Amino acid sequence: MIDLEAVRAQTPGCHRGVFLDSAGSSLPPVRVLDEVVNHLRREAEVGGYRAAEERLDDLEAGYAVLASVLDCHPDEVAFTDSATRSWLAVFDAIPLAAGDRILCTEAEYAGNAIPLLRRAEEVGAVVEAIPSDAMGAVDVAALRSLLDERVRLVSLVHVPTNGGLVNPVAPVVEAAHEVGALVMLDACQSVGQVQVTGLGADIITGTGRKWLRGPRGTGFLVVRRPVLESLHPRQVDLHSGTWVGPDRYELRDDARVFELWESNIADRLGLVAAFQYALDLGIDAIAAAVADRGEHLRRGLAELPGVTVHDLGSQRCGLVTFSVSGVPAAEVRDRLREKGVTVTVSGVTSTRYDMTRRGLDEIVRASPHYFVSPAQLDEAVAAVAELA
Ligand SMILES: Cc1ncc(COP(=O)(O)O)c(C=O)c1O
Repeated sequence: MIDLEAVRAQTPGCHRGVFLDSAGSSLPPVRVLDEVVNHLRREAEVGGYRAAEERLDDLEAGYAVLASVLDCHPDEVAFTDSATRSWLAVFDAIPLAAGDRILCTEAEYAGNAIPLLRRAEEVGAVVEAIPSDAMGAVDVAALRSLLDERVRLVSLVHVPTNGGLVNPVAPVVEAAHEVGALVMLDACQSVGQVQVTGLGADIITGTGRKWLRGPRGTGFLVVRRPVLESLHPRQVDLHSGTWVGPDRYELRDDARVFELWESNIADRLGLVAAFQYALDLGIDAIAAAVADRGEHLRRGLAELPGVTVHDLGSQRCGLVTFSVSGVPAAEVRDRLREKGVTVTVSGVTSTRYDMTRRGLDEIVRASPHYFVSPAQLDEAVAAVAELA
């Protein structure tokens, strides 16, 4: 179980109001903050290269820390600077040709959908959205009916940016693998708030600043060993490979082929500290606490006249989405901010397939982490009640 008082004591930002935007960019714990700031100070004392050398062992150990959350081998992990950077680097390395089909979820995030559409346009492939089931999650039976040997890739969003559902992963992977398609799991909104073990996805991408409570400008990816051999990384540099002859180079054979030489070492150390912090709390304990906060908030909001909760799915997590009748989402956000409650807005252009299907243009998104107390959630509900 999460010790609420302890995690709140380790989170300076959580006393400044009701923070409900961990799906946007969460509040880091002191341990993460110290790791980043101390390293920046060290860089200022001895220069970035020497400061990095001093932390070489910790940086190396970081791969294993990430691997234990992401349920993979450390060789299958790479650090990047965002979930999108991770996603683009791997997607760009997947060979695609005319006639290939790419399936994605209706909850596909625009940052994935745009490159999917662009690449498909370039090579003559097609992108098709897998219908959702009655509960709003990816419909595995519908997926099965769409699959054939032309499907190269299934892009699966684990937790959508605009709703509290958790998509099933293992049955999607099983179905996709039957026709030899790769599964790319966008775990940007799930790592740090739900378990990601035993899912079997070929590729996983994620970010540091959301549910993991790491620094901004950090991301990571997982590429399974056997899959790596079938990829053709194109965004490569002198860290991804070695220049061994005038016209010859050799690429690394692990996931770090997707990293570049230059990186923000302070942020990377901060991201490792964030993963370690999550491991120390226990991912199961985090998942239970976040689901509890999400349900608490949903229940409170659903009881308010004039407020509609939009979350779908049979398994739900910490994203809570709603609208207030007659009040535009941005106005709800701004007026709640005046009352010390931080939420955000998600619009149709972020998740066009899903929002169009549901006839929504915009929603308010509130995303409580485990460090938000139930009393703060009640405060947020009372603030929404005043608007409604
Ligand atoms: C589902 C989903 N995928 C991908 C991203 C992109 O993450 P990043 O901004 O770290 O690139 C987001 C960001 O909100 C997201 O919600």
